[in-house]
Amino acid sequence: MYLTPEEKAMLAGDFGPGVKRAMEIIVALGKIYGAQELVPVQSVQVAGVSYKNLGDAGLEFLHEWAGQGAQVRVPTTLNPAGMDLTHWRELGISEEFARKQMAVIEAFKAMGIVPSCSCTPYLTGNLPAFGQHIAWSESSAVSFANSVLGARTNREGGPSALAAAITGRTARYGLHLDENRRATHIIEVRCPVTSEADFGALGYLVGKRVKNGVPYFKGLSRSQLAPAGSPDPAAGQRIWRSTASFCDLLGPGDRGQGILKALGAAMAASGAVALYHVEGVTPEARAGDVVATEAETVVIDSLDEGYAALNSPIDQIDLVSIGCPHASLVEIEEVARWLEGKRVKAKLWITTARETRERAQEKGLVERIEAAGGRVVADTCLVVAPIEELGLRSMATNSAKAAFYAPTHSGLEVRFGKLEQCLEAAVTGRWPG
Ligand code: F3S
Repeated sequence: MYLTPEEKAMLAGDFGPGVKRAMEIIVALGKIYGAQELVPVQSVQVAGVSYKNLGDAGLEFLHEWAGQGAQVRVPTTLNPAGMDLTHWRELGISEEFARKQMAVIEAFKAMGIVPSCSCTPYLTGNLPAFGQHIAWSESSAVSFANSVLGARTNREGGPSALAAAITGRTARYGLHLDENRRATHIIEVRCPVTSEADFGALGYLVGKRVKNGVPYFKGLSRSQLAPAGSPDPAAGQRIWRSTASFCDLLGPGDRGQGILKALGAAMAASGAVALYHVEGVTPEARAGDVVATEAETVVIDSLDEGYAALNSPIDQIDLVSIGCPHASLVEIEEVARWLEGKRVKAKLWITTARETRERAQEKGLVERIEAAGGRVVADTCLVVAPIEELGLRSMATNSAKAAFYAPTHSGLEVRFGKLEQCLEAAVTGRWPG
C-alpha cells in the first residue's frame, strides 16, 4: 500500500506513540481490505461513547490512548453517551454510572474532540459536502451521509474512527470507491408508504433482505419526500442550503430529511446497509446510472410483516421514546404541538442533540413539552442509556431502529407505530387499540 512520506513518519512514530498506534490501525485495515492508498478525511464521527457499551476495558483503552498524547486533526464529534451529560440525575442514572460516563467524555475531550453526543451530527454542523471523504461510525449517520448527502464513508468501528481522526486519514476501500457505490438491489415499492413509521417498517424489511447490499428504491415519489407543514426555516436554511441540490427537492422543511433518516436507520439495523439510492431524489441517483447490471429486483407490496416483527402484543406502556435517530427541531415542534393541553401518564423522552435541545428551548418547545410531563433529553438515547436500571418494562416508539434494538439492548417489550399512536400511548399509558 502506498504511503506518503508524512504517513510513513506517522507509522514510524515520529509524531508520537498515540499517532503511531492510530496509523497502525488504519494501515492494518487497509491491508485487510486491499486498499492501494489512504485518503484524507474531512470529518469524523466516533461511536462507542456510552459507558454501558464500553465498560471499564473501553474506558481504560481511551485513557491510555489520550495519555499517549493523541490529538484529533479534523473536526470530530461523538455518538450519544449513556446519559444526558447535565441532567442525568433527573433521569434516574446512578452516581457510579455517571462518574464513569464523565470519565469517558473527559478522555475524548483530552484528544480534542467536541463532546457533542449525537447520532445526527449533520443536523448540528458536522455536514459533509457531496463527494467528500469522511470516517463516521454511527450506522444511521453513515447511511445518511452516504445516501442523502453523497459523502463517502465506510461504517467505521469506534477505534478505527478515532484512528482516522488522529491521523486525518482512512484507507481507500469500500464505499470510498465508485465501483462499490452501485446498487445491488432494485426495490420496487408497490404499497403506500407515508409516515416515518412506514418508512421504518420498509427499511426493516429491505435491510433484512439486502443485508450489506446497496438498495435502489423505485416507486417512492417526490411528493412523499417533499416537505409538508411545519417548516423549520432556521435549521433548514442553515443545513440544507449549504449542501447539494438535493435540498432543492426537500426545501427548508424537513419531512424528507426525517423520513430518509428513519429509512436509513432501519436498514442499517436489520441489515448492514450503509448506502442507498432513491430514484430521482438522492444525489447519486440523480447524477446518473447507479444500478449494477446484475442487480436483483425485490418487490415490497406490504409493510405488514415489518410491523408484525417489530411489535410485541403488550398494552401497558411505561415509556415512550421519540428521537431515534435524534429528533430534529421540526420533530420536537410536532410533539409540542400535539401535547398542547394534555398530560402524559407514561414517561415520555424525546432524545436529541444538545444543540437542537438548546434551539428548542429558545423557541419555548422544551417548556411546552415539560408542561405536559414529557422530557427533551440531550446527549443520549434509549438504546445506549442504562434503561434496564430504571425499572421500566415496556416502550412505545415511532422508530423501527429503536424497536429493533430495545428488546435485546434494554430488555424492553416494544410497541412500534406512528408518532400520533406513540403520543396517545404516552397520555393514556396504554397502546391505542
Ligand atoms: Fe441514535 Fe440511539 Fe437511535 S444512537 S440512531 S438514537 S439507537
